[in-house]
Amino acid sequence: MQTTAAEEERSFYDRVGGEQTFRRLVHFFYQGVAQDELLRPMYPEEDLGPAEERFALFLMQYWGGPRTYSDRRGHPRLRMRHVPFQVDRAAHDAWLRHMRTALDRLALPAEDDRELWNYMTYAAAAMINTAG
Ligand code: HEM
Repeated sequence: MQTTAAEEERSFYDRVGGEQTFRRLVHFFYQGVAQDELLRPMYPEEDLGPAEERFALFLMQYWGGPRTYSDRRGHPRLRMRHVPFQVDRAAHDAWLRHMRTALDRLALPAEDDRELWNYMTYAAAAMINTAG
């Protein structure tokens, strides 16, 4: 199918379904994290709800939605924000595995899925801060 100029101008955020889509993605993702013996202890808060909220707001902003994340948290500076956590290869792999499962559950059109997945794999690799 051909993309029209109007569609090109719509943000990826709107195209994939806006806030609801990103909230569902992050909710599915955190359901995986909640069960993960390596990742779960890394999250400082007992309640994963606030972490879920921050990640959802970040992704919404990144993909062209409202800028609520930065209004609340300032500049993302994600690598710096991950310094307190030991993100090694194993954590990276586990994180991406839960993201893959979450994306599968979302079942977006293949092209949109690929765009999100490419970004997630790139960003996850950039977050590694510990060898091993
Ligand atoms: C590679 C493995 C990763 C691990 C093990 C990891 C782990 C964590 C942990 C433990 C937190 C603290 C929870 C909180 O207080 O919010 C956090 C925060 C966060 N992570 Fe990750 N993360 C990873 C990758 C990523 C990636 C790839 C992204 C973006 C695509 C991301 C986005 C965020 C955001 C937005 C926050 C909240 C930042 C804030 O405003 O404080 N993380 N992550």
